[in-house]
Amino acid sequence: MSETPYLLPAVALGPGSMPLLGFGTWPISDEDVTAATETALEAGYRHIDTATGYGNEAGIGRALAASALPSSEVFVTTKLPPDRVGQERRTLEESLSRLGLDRVDLWLVHWPPAGDAGPAVWAELVRAREEGLATSIGVSNYSLEQIDELTRLTGVTPEVNQVRWGPLLYDPAFVEGLRSRGVVLEGYSPLKATRLDDPTLVAIAEAHHSTAAQVVIAWHVMHGFVVIPKSARRDRIISNGEAVRLPLTVEQVGTIDGLAAAA
Ligand SMILES: NC(=O)c1ccc[n+]([C@@H]2O[C@H](COP(=O)([O-])OP(=O)(O)OC[C@H]3O[C@@H](n4cnc5c(N)ncnc54)[C@H](OP(=O)(O)O)[C@@H]3O)[C@@H](O)[C@H]2O)c1
Repeated sequence: MSETPYLLPAVALGPGSMPLLGFGTWPISDEDVTAATETALEAGYRHIDTATGYGNEAGIGRALAASALPSSEVFVTTKLPPDRVGQERRTLEESLSRLGLDRVDLWLVHWPPAGDAGPAVWAELVRAREEGLATSIGVSNYSLEQIDELTRLTGVTPEVNQVRWGPLLYDPAFVEGLRSRGVVLEGYSPLKATRLDDPTLVAIAEAHHSTAAQVVIAWHVMHGFVVIPKSARRDRIISNGEAVRLPLTVEQVGTIDGLAAAA
């Protein structure tokens, strides 16, 4: 494994930090995810996003083992699916076994359980963090109100909220809502949630001799949003990773911010 070719920007999380760039692994099969993850690690990604529901944790575990990187150097997220409510602890132990890890860096509630924000489920994540099976814990697809419900009922606020995100979904009130609660915003589907042929993005990309996909990823990084683009293609895994170095100007970030209001 070669050295990380570029310094990865990161956000403080728990006792450590979370790289802003992660490798999205859905919907890559367990068979194909090993080579894709190996490519991502070779390209310098140090953060992998998976979930019990993706069915590819074992393949990621094989890539992590083959990389010979110490587990402290690769940030790994997995998620608890709604249909495993009541079996939280066993589900996490099975994830850890497939990933070949003693602990995950981040364990998320994948979706709010039916009916409410799931305080009983959340209490199990809190217990897993206390027991050291997950360094940090959070949620995914939660509203601010649902996050507040967890805080009110358990006294513990999620550290991260992973949501569908991108320039067209940019919502400063939501950003500020998470920031003021101390919750890291992690965006998923950054490329799918964007029109990559948008003329504004294309013009900014051309100004940097880059691609619209790279501009979208760089926009997340400039804002301090975590971003987890997925690709099963070697060339795109590499070019998406290189986007963390793309120096958008403050004006360009502001122009991209404006796309949501214009959409
Ligand atoms: N928490 C949740 O509920 C949730 C939901 C959805 C996703 N996620 C996570 O977020 C990750 C990313 O989301 P996503 O996979 O939905 O969407 P995405 O990363 O925005 O987009 C992936 C799609 O974009 C294509 N692509 C990748 N790089 C490209 C590039 N440079 N130029 C053009 N097209 C490119 C990919 O095709 P190729 O593979 O052919 O390159 C794939 O079709 C997932 O993998 C998963 O880890 C979480």
